[in-house]
Amino acid sequence: MKRLSLSRISTVLAAAACLACGGALAQAAAGWSYKDIADSLHMIMESDRTVYTRLIVNRLQNEEKVIKASEHWKDDKALVLPAQMFRYGAEMVQEKGAGFSYALLSDWAVNKQNAPKTAVEKEGLAAVVKSGAPFYKEETLGGKKFFTAVYPDKAVAKACIVCHNDHKDSPKRDFKMGDVMGGVVLRLPMK
Ligand code: HEC
Repeated sequence: MKRLSLSRISTVLAAAACLACGGALAQAAAGWSYKDIADSLHMIMESDRTVYTRLIVNRLQNEEKVIKASEHWKDDKALVLPAQMFRYGAEMVQEKGAGFSYALLSDWAVNKQNAPKTAVEKEGLAAVVKSGAPFYKEETLGGKKFFTAVYPDKAVAKACIVCHNDHKDSPKRDFKMGDVMGGVVLRLPMK
């Protein structure tokens, strides 16, 4: 019994280490599928993103009119945009050498760098806009295999639609509350 529980603990520890390194071996041993890991990581991202948009940007900019959010937040002494907040976090994760990566993309991107590029990104975005549900597919890029998940990014606050509909670089100007405005693309390396 003792041996069993010890090995169980080491499996859980290995799975935790794997979440940080992006490896696949330990997660399989612990019974976590790629989908489970992707869904969990996304749950954290989406919650943080919604909290920042609702409690910081929407409240201070749109409701209480205390401070604006601006792309040029440094010069304007303004709040960082929700999408910038998300991107800076994703960039910091890369700097830390994580095996996984994520980005916020859209077919109606304000910043053209956020347009889908790979075939799976395009297919996934079209699917989440249509269904409002997550999309999963295996993808090979540069000879490496990835588990790619695409999650719908919805207009959860008025600030989302007001800013995008009014933005000079936005190719779409009729977003409504609850619309899927784009998607979070999350990639896990596969063994
Ligand atoms: C004050 C303006 C503003 C607000 C509020 C805002 N956005 Fe954006 N959004 C932008 C800008 C500008 C970009 C491009 C940022 C960059 O440089 O990556 C962007 C990027 C995005 C992208 C990536 C594709 C693109 O358009 O470049 C998505 C998807 C998106 N926003 C959805 C949302 C959602 C959903 C909300 C609310 C939760 C929201 N945005 C709130 C201005 C805004």
